Amino acid sequence: MTDDHRGRSVIITGASAGLGAALARAFADAGAHLTLLARRQDRLEQVATDCRARGSEVVAVIGDVTHIDDGQRLTAAAVAAHGGIDCLIANAGLSMWAPFEQVTDLTLFRRLMEVNYLGAVHCVHPALPHLQERHGQFVAISSIQGRLAVPNHTGYVAAKHALQGFCNTLRLEQADRGVGVLTVLLHWLRGTELRSHAFAADGTPVGDGRRAHTGESVSLEQACAAILGGVARRERELVIPWKLKALMTLQGLHPASAEAIVQRAVRKQDTHSTGSVDA
Ligand SMILES: NC(=O)c1ccc[n+]([C@@H]2O[C@H](COP(=O)([O-])OP(=O)(O)OC[C@H]3O[C@@H](n4cnc5c(N)ncnc54)[C@H](OP(=O)(O)O)[C@@H]3O)[C@@H](O)[C@H]2O)c1
Repeated sequence: MTDDHRGRSVIITGASAGLGAALARAFADAGAHLTLLARRQDRLEQVATDCRARGSEVVAVIGDVTHIDDGQRLTAAAVAAHGGIDCLIANAGLSMWAPFEQVTDLTLFRRLMEVNYLGAVHCVHPALPHLQERHGQFVAISSIQGRLAVPNHTGYVAAKHALQGFCNTLRLEQADRGVGVLTVLLHWLRGTELRSHAFAADGTPVGDGRRAHTGESVSLEQACAAILGGVARRERELVIPWKLKALMTLQGLHPASAEAIVQRAVRKQDTHSTGSVDA
């Protein structure tokens, strides 16, 4: 891991599990001091303890990114503990898995927008003056679904597209204020809870076993290494894995071909529709 992050103050939302927890440990290994936020206290405290054991100074903030006040508390906690903010990673996220026509609880669309899009807005707004002070960076953990349409994910795709538009605009506005904006467009990730917590058609969690990972999925180690490197180089966009850029280019040149590739990939993952598990 790069040690370019030594002594930096890094905020990570959604740090109690999955990618957020893995990023917290990776930034701790790289010498950063951390402010971590999530709702589940026991899980967040465990991650904080792991990071302290790696030599990091850590503040754990129990909070919900859908609450404006919690975004403000997060910034205040980071500034009080570490004197400022070098990097804010908006990682908290929630997904869905249901064809639109089958959805019976439309409130899940509002919830997806609140967590994936407004959650980032709530956290970066109070942090912005502090990021400006240190010429810091705002990192939004988006998805390839911030650019491409993927079946069964209407609400998630819409929320990640909103996040992408917000970040692209913020990058322009902050260009001469010294704040970098990095969007991270990820493929499927192994080893997280996103799929089991995703909304089913009735707004309840999908649970385990609904979908299988294929060999296309990215490991947490691979994602963390790419993100720490991207932050160190002050990149504007990361596509993980990079070969997905070819699919994004195809989408621009010949959308029907790109869509056919996505349809095939999603059918391979839906173990209920294919009856097979391609792990
Ligand atoms: N997994 C994938 O295949 C994949 C692919 C592309 C992009 N991503 C993106 O990567 C990010 C991390 O996802 P993951 O796969 O690591 O998912 P995960 O394992 O389910 O972790 C999600 C994290 O977000 C937190 N969270 C959820 N709602 C929250 C809220 N309202 N307020 C505060 N924290 C909240 C959860 O903590 P609490 O429940 O404790 O609050 C948890 O720490 C997300 O933005 C996701 O969209 C994931």
